[in-house]
Amino acid sequence: MAQVLDGKAHAECMVAEVQAAVAARTAAGRRPPCLAVILVGEDPASQVYVRGKVKACAQTGIRSLEFRPSAELPQAELEALVDRLNEDPEVDGILVQLPLPGHLDAKAALHRISPAKDVDGFHPVNQGLLLEGLPALRPCTPSACMHMLAAHGVELKGRHAVMLGRSEIVGKPMALMLLEQHATVTIAHSRTRDLPAVCAQADLLVAAVGRPGLVEGSWIKPGAVVVDVGINRVEDPVLARRIFQADPAKLKAVEERGWVLCGDVRFAEAMAVASAVTPVPGGVGPLTIAGLMKNTLQACESQVG
Ligand code: GUN
Repeated sequence: MAQVLDGKAHAECMVAEVQAAVAARTAAGRRPPCLAVILVGEDPASQVYVRGKVKACAQTGIRSLEFRPSAELPQAELEALVDRLNEDPEVDGILVQLPLPGHLDAKAALHRISPAKDVDGFHPVNQGLLLEGLPALRPCTPSACMHMLAAHGVELKGRHAVMLGRSEIVGKPMALMLLEQHATVTIAHSRTRDLPAVCAQADLLVAAVGRPGLVEGSWIKPGAVVVDVGINRVEDPVLARRIFQADPAKLKAVEERGWVLCGDVRFAEAMAVASAVTPVPGGVGPLTIAGLMKNTLQACESQVG
């Protein structure tokens, strides 16, 4: 059986480090970092994520400001809010929760955030710095995954890492970070021919496609390390019977409670083949929030010292 990579425990260590650094700042008479979170509309998953982010701020001593405009917010008003937060010297980090309602231009809103306050690391300036391998605010999920892999002593140099997914939030930045650590990187995606065979070459497989249980045990090279970034809610009993053949507990949850959370990887199948696997929930999810706390502290230190 593979080792379960406990993202939750690792995230707790990262959060404790931020908490200590914030306490040291305030003990020295400096103000705590401050994160502004903008959630437009009432997307239920986004509400859960934002609640987690605000809770982590409280835990670390970071001040948080929540803005929850209605789903009808015009683009100009969203951008005016970002402008106001950019100019506010008391605000160190700005996060616009995605996805935005369909009428809003997410890219335009994200590009409006000052790069120094871009705690998601989505601004082109920060993406460009990452591409060049220079210090920057880097996307929270991939940087926290890299932190966890390093803490577990996962060797990347010269190994074949397959990044399944090419999103701006995870796939592309993760591929760059793996490359920076001297891995041989393949970016695979929905149009890749013979995806199972490509994934089966991976010493490290990172899945971030948002397709529940896509990755089967047979797609995984024996002894590989598997990082599952997907967080999917499965309600369909037909789908559940197909993807949870080796996972009676998850199947039972769907049948009795009506839903279950699962990743892009069939966890029970992966556990029988891989050397280490991140679970869902309790794997990468908590790491993302820990990464955000780290970035908020970094944004504060680089702007106000
Ligand atoms: N929605 C899903 N993931 C993310 C993220 O990392 N940042 C933001 N702002 N929104 C998201």
